[in-house]
Amino acid sequence: MNRSIFFQQNSIVVAIVMFISIATFDANAQTIREYRLEPGSSGLELTMRDVARPEPGAGEVLIRVRAVSLNRRDLSVAGRSSSSGLVPLSDAAGEVIAVGSGVTQFAVGDRVAGTFFADWPGGPRTAEAMASARGGGVDGVLAEVIVSHEDGLIAVPDYLTYEEAATLPCAAVTAWRALFTNGALERGETVLLEGTGGVSIFGLQLAAAAGARPIITSSSDTKLERARALGAVGTVNYRSRPEWQEDVLALTNGEGVDHVLEVVGQDTMLRAIQALAYDGHIAVIGGLSGRADALPLGRLPRGALISNVFVGSREDFEAMNEFLVEHELHPVIDRVFPFEEAAAAYAYMDSGAHIGKIVITL
Ligand SMILES: NC(=O)c1ccc[n+]([C@@H]2O[C@H](COP(=O)([O-])OP(=O)(O)OC[C@H]3O[C@@H](n4cnc5c(N)ncnc54)[C@H](OP(=O)(O)O)[C@@H]3O)[C@@H](O)[C@H]2O)c1
Repeated sequence: MNRSIFFQQNSIVVAIVMFISIATFDANAQTIREYRLEPGSSGLELTMRDVARPEPGAGEVLIRVRAVSLNRRDLSVAGRSSSSGLVPLSDAAGEVIAVGSGVTQFAVGDRVAGTFFADWPGGPRTAEAMASARGGGVDGVLAEVIVSHEDGLIAVPDYLTYEEAATLPCAAVTAWRALFTNGALERGETVLLEGTGGVSIFGLQLAAAAGARPIITSSSDTKLERARALGAVGTVNYRSRPEWQEDVLALTNGEGVDHVLEVVGQDTMLRAIQALAYDGHIAVIGGLSGRADALPLGRLPRGALISNVFVGSREDFEAMNEFLVEHELHPVIDRVFPFEEAAAAYAYMDSGAHIGKIVITL
């Protein structure tokens, strides 16, 4: 098989290169299949190869990956020439198949997920921690087997499937950190979510479970209906209502929302600020429409708090998992693709047709 996937700065041309035959995983084989972003004729190509099976060193764990999920970031990473040679994607869940010397936290057979940062257990962030973002600063997880230091792993709650657990490391932890670590979300407060992608849908589910009042925007009435079923108390179609911030204000009796998860950036920042209440909190997260480089500080309501989110630490992930277990929250998975169709998963994310998360199983 020889198809190609090319990533260019603002577009992806779907194709894939495979130098191996399609096969099922063999636990005893000396080789495994993994994808890397490799230079091709027009941009980076998502290339699958057979490579030597890695071995865990001291303090490390070998994981048979069972599911990975995509984030919008993965499209940007694939569009940068500096990603050449990288194993892409940050989010994986799987089973421990071997441990290196000195490993104390995990044993063979345990179900684990990787943390987004391979090296940020908690506490203040460091340059090393920020440089350890999987599928960006360091190799990611789109492979049948990966190695991780045990400190970069977390136990998967029993009630979650591997597919569900693989959705958590980036989008869910980002929403958690924004709402709880930074925002100290309280019951009864209002939360504005923009669009129905991964971060926003987790924000909606977490806020609703905490007894807060989520309001969400979307370009699609069908997606808004789904969001209502997930706990949204207010919905606005930002396509048919371009001045959607006025609808959000109306939904809050003119007071504005207490928190915004700002994932869109340039197109929405000012409107989000206009929809914010006194003493409200705006978590600056994403740039779906381009980064909002100029923050209109003079337009902020009195007492507003701005926080800048970059996912979260293992400590955040652990706190979130406790909350997920308590509320038995199930991530919203839109579609699941087989490992051999990773390119199609990228293209589906690029289309924006999804609600919640896109998963690849192995
Ligand atoms: N800083 C961090 O720690 C962090 C972590 C995770 C993600 N991010 C960033 O946050 C953003 C969201 O990531 P994601 O993975 O959740 O993305 P995603 O799943 O791809 O979200 C896509 C959805 O966003 C909505 N959208 C797109 N353009 C929009 C616009 N102009 N106005 C309103 N909604 C719009 C659409 O929803 P509808 O179809 O409903 O209209 C679209 O389906 C990205 O920029 C990502 O890079 C940052």
